[in-house]
Amino acid sequence: MECHISHLNIYIYISAATKPLLLADLASGKSHIPSNYIRPENDRPNLNEVESFDGNSIPLIDFQGLDGPNRFDIINQIGLACRNYGFFQVKNHGIDEAVVNRMLEVAREFFHMPETEREKSYSDDPFKTTRLSTSFNVKTEKVSCWRDYLRLHCHPLEDYVAEWPSNPPSFKPDVAEYCRNVRGLVLRILAAISESLGLEKDYVERALGKHGQHMAINYYPKCPQPELTYGLPGHSDPNAITVLLQDDVPGLQVLKDGKWVAVNPIPNTFIVNIGDQIQVLSNDRYKSVLHRAVVNCDKERLSIPTFYCPSYDATIGPAQKLIDCEEPAHYRSFTYGEYYEKFWNRGLKTQTCLDMFKTTLP
Ligand code: OGA
Ligand code: NI
Repeated sequence: MECHISHLNIYIYISAATKPLLLADLASGKSHIPSNYIRPENDRPNLNEVESFDGNSIPLIDFQGLDGPNRFDIINQIGLACRNYGFFQVKNHGIDEAVVNRMLEVAREFFHMPETEREKSYSDDPFKTTRLSTSFNVKTEKVSCWRDYLRLHCHPLEDYVAEWPSNPPSFKPDVAEYCRNVRGLVLRILAAISESLGLEKDYVERALGKHGQHMAINYYPKCPQPELTYGLPGHSDPNAITVLLQDDVPGLQVLKDGKWVAVNPIPNTFIVNIGDQIQVLSNDRYKSVLHRAVVNCDKERLSIPTFYCPSYDATIGPAQKLIDCEEPAHYRSFTYGEYYEKFWNRGLKTQTCLDMFKTTLP
């Protein structure tokens, strides 16, 4: 009897230790997706109803001359895109192609490392500043997302680089270089957004307090049944602004006039979207729009969003200049820390978290 129990213990120990934590390891070689990834029938991607990309679904803005003769015109284009789409793409953004390619390469190398090496970074605590995880929030969600992701805090860089993965060996320098460059681009975009709202150039930058910059490296493995699941279901981003780098595999879709539109990758461009905090600062002039990531059965996909955020103690509310008797404040003021906690706890829902902060309009 004693012998039998100890045998059983060994068995339990082994099976717990070998169960993969990450989707990439769990999914490899499967012909069906596990049942916890299957969405209810009324919440599936309906991939054949998606509008296919026709080259101008989302404005593509050329940043050449943003700091010179074309500033006025480009700022107008940005303003229109933020109002009508909540999204735009940027070309001639000024970031060296080699920096971007190294970021994509090292991200892929990271996700191709053996399971034991990757799992060193695993955590399911959303408040850890460096962590590898899977799905969205494994602690609160009912249905899982077809995604693994590495999340890194990246500003100020010197506070966080030491805790980033040391493998692959070029991870830290390559990612740090990318982060510095993206921050430079974000600051130019924030100034342009402020001006496009008729605010002082540094208005949004100042409103973010000490600033936060987080990055996710999303890894979407090939999926044998992509019509049953999402990489990420429809959501809006809780931060101020997101700058997304994607590889050459399509997957991002944006909601426009009630229809999902695919945003297919264009080399050397970034995709920028307004997050919830700029919707609040702009008192709803600019929209934090629903978007989602779908998966496919042929190719894995990498996407690398940089989430630029207020610091947790920054107080966010509609800009005074954008409040008047016709447009009273649509939101109460709150700290970003309060907002962010609510966002992670409620899960990804198509109804935006912003509703919880709305004032009751007359
Ligand atoms: C996100 C996101 C889209 C994508 O991570 O918030 O919207 O294409 N990602 O992976
Ligand atoms: Ni998003």
